[in-house]
Amino acid sequence: MERVVSGIRSTGNLHLGNYFGALKNFIKMQDENECFFFIADYHSLTTHPTPENLHGNVRQVLAEYLAAGIDPEKATIYVQSDVPEVAELYLLLNMNAYVGELERTTSFKDKVRKNPNNVNAGLLTYPVLMAADIIMHNATKVPVGKDQEQNLEMARKFARRFNNMYNVEYFNEPEPFNFGESLVKIPGLDGTGKMGKSEGNGIYLIDDPKVIKKKVMKAVTDSGPTVPNSPVTESVQNLFTIMEIVSTPDTLQYFKDKYASCEIRYGDLKKQLAEDIVKVTTPIREKILDLASNGEYLRKVVKLGEDKARESAAKTIKEVREIIGFKPF
Ligand code: TYM
Repeated sequence: MERVVSGIRSTGNLHLGNYFGALKNFIKMQDENECFFFIADYHSLTTHPTPENLHGNVRQVLAEYLAAGIDPEKATIYVQSDVPEVAELYLLLNMNAYVGELERTTSFKDKVRKNPNNVNAGLLTYPVLMAADIIMHNATKVPVGKDQEQNLEMARKFARRFNNMYNVEYFNEPEPFNFGESLVKIPGLDGTGKMGKSEGNGIYLIDDPKVIKKKVMKAVTDSGPTVPNSPVTESVQNLFTIMEIVSTPDTLQYFKDKYASCEIRYGDLKKQLAEDIVKVTTPIREKILDLASNGEYLRKVVKLGEDKARESAAKTIKEVREIIGFKPF
């Protein structure tokens, strides 16, 4: 049995990238493994230190998590800031994280480039907090998308370094996980790059069918192949990649063949893709709307999760304190 941990920032609604990159894998794992899922509201402060509606965002993401299929009877689902032990482990791990290695992480460099006026220490130590989240429950597997690969590498490094520094075999080295061969990157529909909240190119699980159709119909393509079997451009490949996930293999093959024979009509491809996305999102969207208005249920779920997560966290903190040498007088 694996110990599984994963999380999502509370800065926006769930999009197809979150769902297919990470969440769907968690959901498949929850029946057979010990799973912890949380909403990373501390992390959200690294980029949005004064959020307009922190609580509302957390609540919405919680409803979306549950609607997508996380079962609070099987998995522990909680809010990061409900487990203050994570802040203590973060503090302790910060003592074995080096500024140089943190400055070199790609996501830090990206954030600095995008927002040079808010290069705060929390942003720099983002991977340390993430490592604390993960090793707090001594995770062995972490279902995440490709964009988190480097953060996971850091988590393994901090776990290993802790063991070496204190001469113990205490923390596991958590592995990133996907049921397929490798971690996935769901592309955006704007021609290049990944689908993301900050990229503003997301299709959200909460989007209604009309919005989805509009977004897909506006997706960037090219002027179309003119030579049979020509290589597929990135923007069109992105549509095929999403189609591979939401459509049947026959549908995908049909459009690939049309591309190869230069008969493809991107309008038809997009129409089909939008329909297939809507098929995936509609049942989830209906559940989100239902759950978001059920405050009593959400409260119950969060309390149950907090209790279970804190029990696991308290055990880790107690042992880590002993290992480092803190003792009661
Ligand atoms: P976040 O909130 O950006 O995204 C949550 C999860 O969704 C995945 N994801 C994607 N996967 C494939 N294609 C995409 N286009 C795409 N966009 C997002 C992410 O890889 C992630 O798995 N730092 C994390 C949150 C976090 C965390 C953790 C995750 C904090 N502590 C501990 C795992 C374990 C983040 O910002 O994810």
